[in-house]
Amino acid sequence: MNTNVQLDIADISISFGGIQALTEVSFQIPAGGLAAIIGPNGAGKTTIFNCICSVYKPDIGDILLDGESLKALKPHKVAEKGIARTFQNIELFAELTVIDNLMLGRHLHNGSGILSGALFYGKAVREEVSHRKRVEEIIDFLEIEQVRKKKVINLPYGIQKRVELGRAIAMDPKVLLLDEPTSGMNVEETEDMARFVLDIKEEMGTTILMVEHDMGVVMDLAEKIMVLDFGLKIAEGTPEEVQNNPKVIQAYLGEDAV
Ligand SMILES: Nc1ncnc2c1ncn2[C@@H]1O[C@H](COP(=O)(O)OP(=O)(O)O)[C@@H](O)[C@H]1O
Ligand SMILES: [Mg+2]
Repeated sequence: MNTNVQLDIADISISFGGIQALTEVSFQIPAGGLAAIIGPNGAGKTTIFNCICSVYKPDIGDILLDGESLKALKPHKVAEKGIARTFQNIELFAELTVIDNLMLGRHLHNGSGILSGALFYGKAVREEVSHRKRVEEIIDFLEIEQVRKKKVINLPYGIQKRVELGRAIAMDPKVLLLDEPTSGMNVEETEDMARFVLDIKEEMGTTILMVEHDMGVVMDLAEKIMVLDFGLKIAEGTPEEVQNNPKVIQAYLGEDAV
């Protein structure tokens, strides 16, 4: 594995009114790595994703992608730099088809704008064809060919989660942030999702940071784990190190682990 740090969460703190949501949290994710953030509800996991994407601005600290600060950028600029995400609650265009949702993933961030599209019609058509081709590849990759022309709203929840993953990888990101990719899934859907996450890392070389509550998935997939509790990093290490850390057992794994 490449050990160059690609995504650097550098000592960030943020508070909302009286709530200190994150306190001096640092975590480095190597290029091509697969890392996870775990911790109880309200620990600050989604807040970290919102800081990375510039939806929130940390009060102190910084977020660096390949050494470049993202803090001053607007969220869409962060996406253009190569960070894509999925959400804890699915965010798709429910009335659009699977293909159209994935096409939007490409157009929002890689496409020629409306104006350049009008000025360079030929270029826009060629781009459209290449976007379409990439979207079809992703649809094959995620094994959702049968539903490609269906509206998202009519699909089962587990498939919607997969489409949302497709929308994120349609951006060809350097770094993929997955917020609870298996939440609400049954065992089979969870296994499928875990396999797709691993395949994205291995076949596309994408750096992945996931927030995940399913400890089986985390321990199987993650090379590096950070544990948060009340906005503080209480542990960091390999799955084995984290599992055997008494602080983690007490704070997070609770009665399941004791
Ligand atoms: N926009 C916000 N306004 C106020 N409080 C927030 C906001 N976003 C997050 N928080 C608070 O920050 C804490 C961490 O939330 P969150 O990051 O969603 O936790 P997790 O994803 O680990 O369950 C919670 O106490 C939550 O209420
Ligand atoms: Mg969350």
